[in-house]
Amino acid sequence: MLKNVIVTGGAGFIGGRVVQSLLHLGVDPVVIDHNRAQLEVESYLGGIEDPNSWTPLEGRSFDAIIHLAARTSVLKSVEDPHDVYLSNVAGSECVLEFARRNGIPSVVFASTNAAVGNTDDGIITETSPLRPLTPYGSTKAAAEMLASAYHNSYGIATAMLRLTNVYGPTMWNKDSIIPRLFRFARGKGSFSIYGDGEQVRDFVYVDDVARTFIELAERRTTTVVSYGSGSSLSVKALVQLTSKISGVKLEPNHIAPQAGEMSGVTISLQRSTELGLTTTVDLEEGLARTWDDFLRHEAG
Ligand SMILES: NC(=O)c1ccc[n+]([C@@H]2O[C@H](COP(=O)([O-])OP(=O)(O)OC[C@H]3O[C@@H](n4cnc5c(N)ncnc54)[C@H](O)[C@@H]3O)[C@@H](O)[C@H]2O)c1
Repeated sequence: MLKNVIVTGGAGFIGGRVVQSLLHLGVDPVVIDHNRAQLEVESYLGGIEDPNSWTPLEGRSFDAIIHLAARTSVLKSVEDPHDVYLSNVAGSECVLEFARRNGIPSVVFASTNAAVGNTDDGIITETSPLRPLTPYGSTKAAAEMLASAYHNSYGIATAMLRLTNVYGPTMWNKDSIIPRLFRFARGKGSFSIYGDGEQVRDFVYVDDVARTFIELAERRTTTVVSYGSGSSLSVKALVQLTSKISGVKLEPNHIAPQAGEMSGVTISLQRSTELGLTTTVDLEEGLARTWDDFLRHEAG
């Protein structure tokens, strides 16, 4: 049973949901983030790559760290690779060092299929070679390597959850595809399809992701596992589904493919299934919930 858990990035989209789920389970979350946590929990403002951010927590006992803090914009990582390196690689090293110094037995780390990049047969598995296309993907691959070393050298359980595209309530201001489509449906902002729109993506609901992070922390598992719905759909099909759910016929224009854009994301669920890490919310239901939340937020 978990008693107290550090959540880096606990003020973010996934982190907020992890914190909420921990509270429901009676676990005490402690948040470290640049931003203030959405819920009233013990929080420390600061960068994870800054050793001073960790000072107030030195010497205390924790069951696990759920490590979510990261610069997450792929496009910004191409513009400023050093900044993303500091948060995602140097920052992850500080997380692992804190765990080592303080005898924390488990670190669960938010990785991404972008650490893998494109594969020869189009299917992403945990044994696919790591050939990231962007600085963002490479920082996640590098942090995975650090985590592997901290497991093998110091015995810390390190679980790396390679997430696909996470969506769900409270993602109002994010720049990922679903909130951008939603804003477009409400006449706010532009939306263009890169290339022909046949590139496939996998979407996973945030509550499934939050539950899985906590489950891996509880189990003190060491693994690398891809986690998503396992059923990909094209960007064009996502636009159609959003039209259906919003009741707004969306007809985005097409522009040239962007550098660093993955040609397709289809993951194998073999390992996640073996580990019993399932998903429970299908895309149509999850998208409808997310749209309702989006409208409620807009209405204030
Ligand atoms: N959302 C997705 O689709 C997705 C997919 C794959 C992986 N991930 C990973 O999951 C994690 C959480 O993603 P999210 O969507 O909730 O992102 P988010 O941007 O909503 O949240 C990230 C949080 O980390 C904080 N943060 C960033 N750099 C920091 C630093 N150096 N020190 C302290 N705090 C810092 C931010 O303030 C923010 O609150 C990230 O590691 C991301 O790479 C997300």
